[in-house]
Amino acid sequence: MTTQLVSTISKPTNCDRQKLPQHIAIIMDGNGRWARKKGLPRIEGHRQGANTLKEILRTCKNWGIDTLTAYAFSTENWGRPSTEVGFLMNLFERLLRKELQELKEEGVRIRFLGDISPLPSSLQQKISYSMAETRQNQAINFNVAINYGSRKEIVKVCRDIAKKVALGELYPDEINENLFSQYLYTSNSPDPDLLIRTGGEMRLSNFLLWQMAYTEIYVIDTLWPDFDAQQLAKAIASYQKRDRRFGKKVS
Ligand code: IPE
Ligand code: IPE
Ligand code: MG
Repeated sequence: MTTQLVSTISKPTNCDRQKLPQHIAIIMDGNGRWARKKGLPRIEGHRQGANTLKEILRTCKNWGIDTLTAYAFSTENWGRPSTEVGFLMNLFERLLRKELQELKEEGVRIRFLGDISPLPSSLQQKISYSMAETRQNQAINFNVAINYGSRKEIVKVCRDIAKKVALGELYPDEINENLFSQYLYTSNSPDPDLLIRTGGEMRLSNFLLWQMAYTEIYVIDTLWPDFDAQQLAKAIASYQKRDRRFGKKVS
């Protein structure tokens, strides 16, 4: 059914193809609520959420979006019940095993944002392998934020830069916004143009705080497992109506 939906929407309707956001970031929220509404365990929401992500990735690729960044697991999400955390770790691993071939065939370049060192070692191996196996791909950049927290990321950048200064490899006066950005997990991507958050919460939940200084924010009540290509097209159409002033233009 999902595949059918994607193939019927080969173009983003109501959108200007010339003004597509280059980089879309998504806070995929609402899996637990989706499951609860259906009387299912929370993990079923995560399972269905993975299908949605697959569909949205393919849609973004077909529509010519350069980069999709998905928030899959935050540094704070370790505080959830261990059964849920364990399920998510297994789900990530299973997905990488199952989907890698297709990602390769579809020209997806996958990268991961976050500190992968506390993840199960078998998952870390699959992460490294999938990045290496897709590094030549150019159809779309797909960033998955796992064990990602923006504050931790920013502190890590400060530490890395401080080490360089201590070693005499960098002068404090050389530290500027551009240099700082190069130390972030997102050093390979431009800042997101559009942030979509499903599940209705109007907050950033520690996601890409530095990178989203001027990102356009779109919040939708739809729970992530119910999000689809049509709603993505609506989010893009809303983005295209915005006047991005970057603090410079006066109206
Ligand atoms: C988002 O859905 C997925 C993760 C955080 C891993 P939630 O699990 O937060 O779902 P809700 O917000 O409780 O409905
Ligand atoms: C944000 O959702 C994290 C991910 C989608 C991975 P949360 O459900 O963790 O955020 P809060 O708790 O509502 O802020
Ligand atoms: Mg949530």
